[in-house]
Amino acid sequence: MKKEIDYTRFNSPVTPNRSRRLYIETYGCQMNVSDSEVVAAIMQQAGFTITDHMADADVVLINTCSVRDNAEQRVRGRLDLFRLQKQRMPGLIVGVLGCMAERLKEQLLENGTVDLVAGPDAYRTLPQLVHNAESGQQGVNTLLSREETYADISPVRTDKNGVTAFVSIMRGCNNVCAYCVVPYTRGAERSRPSETILREVRTLLQNGYREVTLLGQNVNSYCEPAAAESKTITFARLLERVALEDPSLRVRFSTSHPKDMHNDVLYTIAMYPNICNHIHLPVQSGSSRILEKMRRGYSREHYMERLAKIREIIPECAITTDIIAGFCSETDDDHAQTLSLMREAEYDAAFMFRYSERPGTKAARHYPDDVPTEIKTRRLNEIIALQNQLSLESNRRDVGKIFIVLAEGNSKRSDAFLFGRTSHNKVTVFPKAKFKAGDYVPVKITTCTSATLIGEVTGMNNE
Ligand code: SAH
Ligand code: SF4
Ligand code: F3S
Repeated sequence: MKKEIDYTRFNSPVTPNRSRRLYIETYGCQMNVSDSEVVAAIMQQAGFTITDHMADADVVLINTCSVRDNAEQRVRGRLDLFRLQKQRMPGLIVGVLGCMAERLKEQLLENGTVDLVAGPDAYRTLPQLVHNAESGQQGVNTLLSREETYADISPVRTDKNGVTAFVSIMRGCNNVCAYCVVPYTRGAERSRPSETILREVRTLLQNGYREVTLLGQNVNSYCEPAAAESKTITFARLLERVALEDPSLRVRFSTSHPKDMHNDVLYTIAMYPNICNHIHLPVQSGSSRILEKMRRGYSREHYMERLAKIREIIPECAITTDIIAGFCSETDDDHAQTLSLMREAEYDAAFMFRYSERPGTKAARHYPDDVPTEIKTRRLNEIIALQNQLSLESNRRDVGKIFIVLAEGNSKRSDAFLFGRTSHNKVTVFPKAKFKAGDYVPVKITTCTSATLIGEVTGMNNE
């Protein structure tokens, strides 16, 4: 019998007798990337060395996503590969972390590949779980917490560029979007104390980082309750404090929920040049009827009013979105409304998905998944085709303009070119010349594709 054990009893890291190597693979959202950095820190403290090569590892951890069925299928494919690796290397420990761990719990142990399962709030117990697995005892810890924010842990940065970093400011989600598994896999919303966020930002600055992305499922509802004699810290205030740390630090954030995107945040963005002019504002659908069924808490009209306000307060702000095609009961007319909203919104970019029913969600329990797969696919393809056109038009409007690009590294195609992003979050490629990752470079855009701006290094004046 595999029973859930209260591993919170084991709060001191286990000291190993030799340095073992840990390989972590990460799927899903930026939050998972950030969590893997917390896991690396916890495991490093417990004596593990992090390796980039699975073949060298004594322990393999896979940090997983459940948001759509295909995300889970990819992980299952990887687990099949780990099974082969285990045959070659008896004694290899395999652990599943993240949202699939939380959703499937001990079911993951069933096929014999997986030794341990840890949900998103259970990472402090990983050293103990690994230790138990090494002595042949499988373990599952998927307890969700109302408090855990890993606030005191300094993440081990796994990104290689040394320029941009994610900083988690909150965990969990209190919304009830009918299609979404996240509230079940991540638990209730909680904000991380602002002082620990600022401390992490300062450390990043000292280590040469030039950009932070503040992360949460719904950053606009960040709230640190007022301590004695101080004010409540809202997201707008937190954003301001981070921006004030250093004018040479770019600040981004994700994700904003349209129902909670208030003007105070917009004024803060407008006030500080180092807060990037880009808002990711997932709309999901252009039909108010579908939005209501999704329980998003806003209508098409409210969303468009927010967009108008963003453009009034932050002229030229880039806006990107997420869209779901083929949610329960979606008609051709609902779909046409999504396409028309996209045209009105003139999104700069979008993440677009086919609706995937997730077990246990409100939609799975109450609404039939009744849009046939071929229709979902056709609608998704129409949405993608339209967005490609909108992205290309948006990029073409930038040709001839000058942007300050924060260089992140060599371009994929050639070492003679660097790539970086504009404040609008557009990937830009330009000749390397004397520049290196971490430099702010004025680039005049000469040409573009729907995904990339291409330019040359220039002086500072827009002509
Ligand atoms: N917290 C963020 C997004 C979390 S998930 C927000 O509220 O915007 C990222 C995106 O995945 C969502 O915006 C949505 O577009 C998509 N998504 C979530 N559940 C889905 C499902 N069941 N099927 C298809 N797409 C889904
Ligand atoms: Fe999911 Fe909605 Fe929460 Fe985003 S806001 S994580 S879509 S429930
Ligand atoms: Fe996936 Fe979990 Fe993120 S379901 S999108 S990894 S919060």
